[in-house]
Amino acid sequence: MWDKLEKIRLQAAEEIKGTKTVAELEEMKVKWLGRKSELTELLRGLGKMPAEERPKLGQKTNEIKRELEKYCEERENVLQKKEEEQSLQADLFDVTLPGRGRVNGHLHPLTRTMLELEDYFARMGYMIYETDNLTNEYDNFEGVNIPADHPARGMWDTFWVKGEEKKKGRLCMATHTSCIQNRILRENKPPYKAVALGRCFRREATDATHEHTFYQIEGVIVDKKLSVGNLKKTLMDMVQFIIGRRVPIRLRPSYFPFVEPGFEVDVQCGKCEGKGCNMCKGNGWIEMLGAGMIHQNVFVEAGYKRNEWTGFAYGPGYDRLTMMRYGITDIRHFFNSEPEFIEQF
Ligand code: DAH
Repeated sequence: MWDKLEKIRLQAAEEIKGTKTVAELEEMKVKWLGRKSELTELLRGLGKMPAEERPKLGQKTNEIKRELEKYCEERENVLQKKEEEQSLQADLFDVTLPGRGRVNGHLHPLTRTMLELEDYFARMGYMIYETDNLTNEYDNFEGVNIPADHPARGMWDTFWVKGEEKKKGRLCMATHTSCIQNRILRENKPPYKAVALGRCFRREATDATHEHTFYQIEGVIVDKKLSVGNLKKTLMDMVQFIIGRRVPIRLRPSYFPFVEPGFEVDVQCGKCEGKGCNMCKGNGWIEMLGAGMIHQNVFVEAGYKRNEWTGFAYGPGYDRLTMMRYGITDIRHFFNSEPEFIEQF
């Protein structure tokens, strides 16, 4: 009997400690401690033992039972922990990974600027136009007071396209959205406000701030007695919308054949507030657009009587506006189709 107890103790301890899963351990519990286990049988048979041995045998059996129970408990803790960890590992996912997002993509930053501007101008009561990519010599040049022999033609490095349009001359890619001015003036009866958005093309060497393809807005406002003051207020409001707050702007006299007087419009550098820094190349100001009072020659060319109406026009490039809004430092990013760039917006 004593031998038997010792054998059970050793074998049971070994088997309990050798279990690999909680389920296996449950089996061992039944086998060594259950109602049909050898230990239980032994306890039941105690009555048949000699009376003087009974208490000691009983005590020993219970001791072994408790010992085995203790092993089971210890083993259970270990196995449970192990299994919990395993199931956590199996379900593990990295909470810091970015979400997959929508599969249908999102708007290009230039498109977003364009839509927001259209919305702004529509709310301000403008008619919205879109310029054609392919235009002609008349609309791009003559119609806006740039005759064939005018030296200002040198300012627009034109992509000429084979072919000609009746009465309007050679075909070319639009070099500026001003190519729509003549049409807007002809199609509408003053007073009116119109804005045109579109693509422009120039034969230029590309660098961080120049692309052969870019985007412009052309604003055209015609009414009686308009002044540079009206122009400036209109531009201040537009700049405020684009940048999101009131920023000082300044008009610098400049030359564009279709306006008189003409200006380059600068916006105070938002980074240094006019003190001069690396972003504004020490100027304190950033050039943003061209603008001016519509030249009376442009009115006459579109069929208006000279000096009967006044107007102003302005033409910002909105690639540059988009670059300012998002802090983009190289215009070439817009067209290189790099997901790393596009996905940031
Ligand atoms: N069309 C000009 C350009 O591409 C920009 C411009 C300047 C437009 C003055 C205007 C303006 O309407 O008044 O360089």
